[in-house]
Amino acid sequence: MKDLLEVMRGRRSVLRFKADPIPEGDLEKILEAGRWAPSYANAQPWKFVVVRDPERRRALGALVERILVFRPGRVALAALGLGDAPVVIAVAVDPVRDPLHHLEAGAAATQNMALMAHALGYASFWAGVAGRREVEREVKRLLGLPRSWRVVALLPVGKPAYEPEPGQRLPLSEIVVQEGLP
Ligand SMILES: Cc1cc2nc3c(=O)[nH]c(=O)nc-3n(C[C@H](O)[C@H](O)[C@H](O)COP(=O)(O)O)c2cc1C
Repeated sequence: MKDLLEVMRGRRSVLRFKADPIPEGDLEKILEAGRWAPSYANAQPWKFVVVRDPERRRALGALVERILVFRPGRVALAALGLGDAPVVIAVAVDPVRDPLHHLEAGAAATQNMALMAHALGYASFWAGVAGRREVEREVKRLLGLPRSWRVVALLPVGKPAYEPEPGQRLPLSEIVVQEGLP
């Protein structure tokens, strides 16, 4: 098992996947990582919808194809391989179970699952859904989720079809301030 910081640094958004299936034991570990995310008052307001059906995956893929791809120095529309991943996990949350912090809870679970997937040798990327209400509505319709729920992310998981470029982050000196802004 890799060191935690190594896993965090090494995880990259990978947009294309091989079709190789994910063994059930690995998928369960990824979902288990989501289960252990923190949530406000331990409300655990989430459902992780595991989508394997190829038609449904492709329909989800078509919805998020409109999503912008952010790469260093550019933003472009790209055809994403979400529909090709053997499994797509939709992270949904029920605001009734936690009216205050359901989105953050879903985000924590999404990141836990992305990290576990990477630690197990799989690729994923976080397709943001909560910020796009029309896409979100369509995702809920497709997956039969209540309209009152929110969908935080779609997380395709599979073996990477290419080697991603190294990650880039701002240096700590630019993002850490001591005690407060002057
Ligand atoms: C809330 C959120 C929404 C995102 N939405 C998209 C998206 O719509 N399309 C996309 O290609 N990547 C999306 N990403 C992935 C980011 O673009 C990616 O994490 C970022 O560029 C850093 O690259 P890395 O994940 O390889 O380190 C999203 C990530 C987060 C956390």
